Amino acid sequence: MSITYKDAPGVQGMRVAGRLASEVLDYLTPHIKPGITTKDIDRLAAECMKIQGTISATLGYQPSGYPPYPASLCTSVNHVVCHGIPNDKALKKGDIVNVDVTVINDGWYGDTSRMFMVGEVSIAAKRLCAVTYDAMWQGIMRVKPGVRLGDIGFAIQKFAESNGFSVVREFCGHGIGRNFHEDPQVLHYGKPGTLEELKPGMTFTIEPMINAGRRDVKEFGNDGWTIVTKDHSLSAQWEHTVLVTESGYEVLTLSAGSPPPPPFVNA
Ligand code: MF3
Ligand code: CO
Ligand code: CO
Repeated sequence: MSITYKDAPGVQGMRVAGRLASEVLDYLTPHIKPGITTKDIDRLAAECMKIQGTISATLGYQPSGYPPYPASLCTSVNHVVCHGIPNDKALKKGDIVNVDVTVINDGWYGDTSRMFMVGEVSIAAKRLCAVTYDAMWQGIMRVKPGVRLGDIGFAIQKFAESNGFSVVREFCGHGIGRNFHEDPQVLHYGKPGTLEELKPGMTFTIEPMINAGRRDVKEFGNDGWTIVTKDHSLSAQWEHTVLVTESGYEVLTLSAGSPPPPPFVNA
């Protein structure tokens, strides 16, 4: 599917969908504590989307070669890299969990994820979550017309690796609009000056998956979705949907509960 450039009404549609996706995460935040199951989180998200009048983009989502995804969001705990399916196991103190929400509003898609720390977590887990957040912003802050996707990937990779972590290669960010996954692919590693040149009106996600150990991943179990680190090291991910503007970027998936950008952004 090719790159789509959004006109003014399209940008407005993407702004609303993006905010609504982020507001689902806001709604879930006070509930993510020891004892809650990821299925409970899924149920709460479905409730929230119902109130919003949005539709989950993940429920029933079936790219070719995959079984239909069975839940309203993804919950990826500890060494789960992405696409974790909500289950009946309770979260416990010390867990880290990525909650990834994609909603459809008025035909437009908004896609965002955050890390949640369950109770008190280890210093190592905290650092992984923080470095991954900053890695996402290292990519976002470089978005503007004329920059290439290789510049974005390079910035993310350099930052993650200089902090002693590794970047997952098998999954990437993506164009987004009236479809969940559009071109271009947004790799979280790369070489400066390579790949697609950014132009105003493009909307895509930046969603680095960063591992505490080696970068290798594998499928887990037989659900057709769950991806884990091969070495069982912790993995973290954050995701925003961004718009390329005439002069830079606009983050579309912001809401009252979004954490602020790191101090190095605009500093
Ligand atoms: N939200 C994920 C992304 O950021 C995709 C999840 S697909 C699912 O691209 F089917 F696993 F939900
Ligand atoms: Co995405
Ligand atoms: Co997502």
